Amino acid sequence: MIGERLAAVAETAEIGDILVEREDLARRVLELGERISADYAGRTLLLVGVLKGALFFLSDLMRALEVECEVDFMALASYGSATDSSGVVRILKDLDASIEGRDVLIVEDIVDSGLTLSYLMRTLQAREPASLEVCALLTKPERRKVDLPIRYVGFEIPNRFVIGYGLDHAERYRNLPYVAVLSGG
Ligand code: IMP
Ligand code: MG
Repeated sequence: MIGERLAAVAETAEIGDILVEREDLARRVLELGERISADYAGRTLLLVGVLKGALFFLSDLMRALEVECEVDFMALASYGSATDSSGVVRILKDLDASIEGRDVLIVEDIVDSGLTLSYLMRTLQAREPASLEVCALLTKPERRKVDLPIRYVGFEIPNRFVIGYGLDHAERYRNLPYVAVLSGG
């Protein structure tokens, strides 16, 4: 019992300063939804959510869209350490359907080095969609190793490891309603 309580205290100690508040996430998602709806007016959009981090961003963004849209998911594993991806990516779950001729929008939680997204864009581009764009909730420009055309960005953040609103540290903290720094991260 006491052990459990101590563990809970140690856990919350990992949650550092809040970088993006809940209200700011909500407001920005609505703005992105408006821009995307205007850009794709009259077309049918296929959102490709990258699991698991884009979970909440995708579900909020999709409800902010006024264009017709469908959704599909991919899950990727990037080889590397806990905090650095190597660029060598394995597809854990592929899309259910073909994207040939479709207007595809990749919805990502965060672009860090950009290596994962770069791999994903090459893979999807080879399937000949009509268009392929990216909407990322967060980017860390200082960490970028490859130059990528990211059409829609929620927030640029400094080089810190962040958790919450879908983003995890060892699978924890995805459920935080805000984006916070992992303390010591
Ligand atoms: P990249 O290949 O270096 O751009 O890494 C991208 C992936 O690493 C993201 O899709 C996240 O899953 C994960 N990632 C990168 N930075 C963070 C972070 O600060 N918090 C949580 N996950 C992160
Ligand atoms: Mg991700």
